[in-house]
Amino acid sequence: MNDLFKDMECYAKEANIPIMLPDAIMYIVNFIKENNISSVLEIGTAIGYSTLKMASTGASVVSIERDRERYSKALDNVNNSGIKDKIELINEDAFNVDLNGMFDLILIDAAKGKNKEFIDKFKKNLNSDGYIIIDNVDFHGMVGNSRMIKSRNLRSLVRKIERFLGYLESQDEFVVRKVDIGDGLIILYKRGIKDE
Ligand SMILES: C[S@@+](CC[C@H](N)C(=O)[O-])C[C@H]1O[C@@H](n2cnc3c(N)ncnc32)[C@H](O)[C@@H]1O
Repeated sequence: MNDLFKDMECYAKEANIPIMLPDAIMYIVNFIKENNISSVLEIGTAIGYSTLKMASTGASVVSIERDRERYSKALDNVNNSGIKDKIELINEDAFNVDLNGMFDLILIDAAKGKNKEFIDKFKKNLNSDGYIIIDNVDFHGMVGNSRMIKSRNLRSLVRKIERFLGYLESQDEFVVRKVDIGDGLIILYKRGIKDE
């Protein structure tokens, strides 16, 4: 598996495909082990790097990727991993996917301006004591500094993340934990189920 992960890291770098930073995925792998998480839904497979890292804990992972080429690459990687029985890959826009399954963890690592929409769509698939983790909430240190950003598109994206963080502060359905690791993680769990 180590060689496969190294190959994937090189491929992602060469092909300019964003994958989770090492300390962030390591944190999530430990989080899965410490919280006895046995089922994960991932939005945003890319080439299957975080998918395989999470499945290597023994958890089963369903992962959704809309890009055909990345999905195909992820499928090759999963087929070469020796743990393909743990993983289901779906090549579709997540907004067109309706799942019946229930999950202990939902990892959102897809379109960064759509975090709230992904939560709204998939929270029905979260077990009552489950967790949602969202990656890149610092967005390379730009979140909180959107006024300084010259590019309009980038500014608009960063503002969406800022609005999302504002929304999290104002809602009371989930307890919100910020973890300053990688590019910033947010962990959510339902209020009233466990200690806050
Ligand atoms: C940051 S990459 C995922 C990286 C991956 N989780 C990892 O760490 O190995 C984000 C991926 O989400 C996909 N994506 C974005 N919006 C999506 C959507 N609505 N449905 C499915 N996939 C989406 C993109 O095509 C991209 O490959």
